[in-house]
Order: sequence, then C-alpha cells, then structure tokens
Amino acid sequence: MSEPYVITIDGASGSGKGSLALRIARHLGFHLLDSGAIYRLAALQALRQKVDLNNEVAVVEVLQDFDIHFEEGEELSIPYLDDEDVSSQIRLESTGDAASIIAQYPAVRARLLERQQQCLRAPGLVADGRDMGTVVFPNAHIKFFLYASPEIRAQRRHKQLISMGISANIAQLQAEISDRDERDRNRSESPLLPAPDALVVDSSLLDLDQVTQLMISHIDEVTT
Ligand code: C5P
Repeated sequence: MSEPYVITIDGASGSGKGSLALRIARHLGFHLLDSGAIYRLAALQALRQKVDLNNEVAVVEVLQDFDIHFEEGEELSIPYLDDEDVSSQIRLESTGDAASIIAQYPAVRARLLERQQQCLRAPGLVADGRDMGTVVFPNAHIKFFLYASPEIRAQRRHKQLISMGISANIAQLQAEISDRDERDRNRSESPLLPAPDALVVDSSLLDLDQVTQLMISHIDEVTT
C-alpha cells in the first residue's frame, strides 16, 4: 500500500499558514496537523504546573504525563488538555510566547515528535508548523515555506485576536512577533528555516484567496 500523501506548510506565526493549511486540507479531503497547537498545549501544561520555563529538565518532566487529544469542531479541531477544552487558553499570546520558549529545548521537541508523526493518516495530511518539512516529515511530497513581513503579520494577528474577542495592541504584538521570530530562527534545534526543496511563498502582498490559489496550482502541477 502506498504511503499517505504529505504536504507541509512551514512559516513564522502570522504568515497565514494555519488558515492556508485548513483550506488546502479541505480542498484535498486530507487530515490536518496544527503542530503549533501541540507546542501550545505543552506550554499550557507547563504553565499550569507552574514550572520554571527556563528549566528544560523540569519542563520535560511535566510532559511525561501529557494527556491531549483533538476533536473535530465545526470549523477547526478542538484541543483538549486533560479532557478540558482549552481552545481559548492556547491562543493567548502568553501561551504562544511560553510555547516558543519551551520549543527551543531538544528534549521537548523529541518528546513531541512522535505525537506529531502519529497524525499521518490516509489519504493524506497537511501539516503546518516550523519544522514540518525539515524534521517531522522530511520525505513530504510537497513542501511550502510561507514568508510575510513582521508588520503585516502583526496586523493579521491583531485582526484574528479581535475577532476572537481577545483585546490586543498592534505595536506590542509586533514586538512579541519579532521576539518570537528571533527565538524560532536562532535556536539550534529545528530552527525556522525553509527545507531546501520547499517552495517559498511571500504572502505579504497577497490575500488569502490569492495564496490559496497559488498553492493549489503548485499542488496540481506536481500531482498531474
Ligand atoms: O504556530 P504557533 O504560533 O501556534 O506556534 C507556537 C510556537 O510553537 C512557535 O512560536 C514555535 O516556537 C513553536 N513551534 C515549533 N515548531 C512547530 C510548531 C510550533 O517550534 N512545528
């Protein structure tokens, strides 16, 4: 039997990869892996257990007993930590920030690797994150890397948070995005970098429909 088809979409936060991954998964009838949600769930677990996020050993320790699952919602899948729906908590900037701190640790990444790879199911998977095409699914059939300027990403994030009823300040968001980019790009383990065989797409001046179209055209080209 042939392996399920894998499409990876990597990029910084606010590059649009989450919305694009959802659209492409729906278009193809594939499963979806939001790997950032897994890092955010791990961060929430660490925050709830009040461990020092700067202590790699302590963070890995609380992940020994890490009970998460996802359930299909109307729009997106709903993340559960210890059987509690934590959709809003994991989307907070403070959780994203904590996620990017613990995501620097090799032992944390190793702990979460298999959990991500287990999401691979027929007929295929669209996986979004930072290292989907480089580490988690290095043999993916199609790889994308999304780029967008920090200013545009801060504006998009602001709009997204407001629509979720979470108040936010654009200047502060941009500063947080830059800090997080810096950490994601400069860590030694799985830094935010395009895979050599990824198609790099700059979405700064394109809207969601235009990027979706561009990506679907590329998928059609490769698969026909
Ligand atoms: O994509 P999202 O903003 O939800 O991810 C939260 C954080 O989790 C990122 O800033 C990044 O540090 C980390 N992450 C990661 N590798 C992934 C997905 C997310 O390091 N594959």
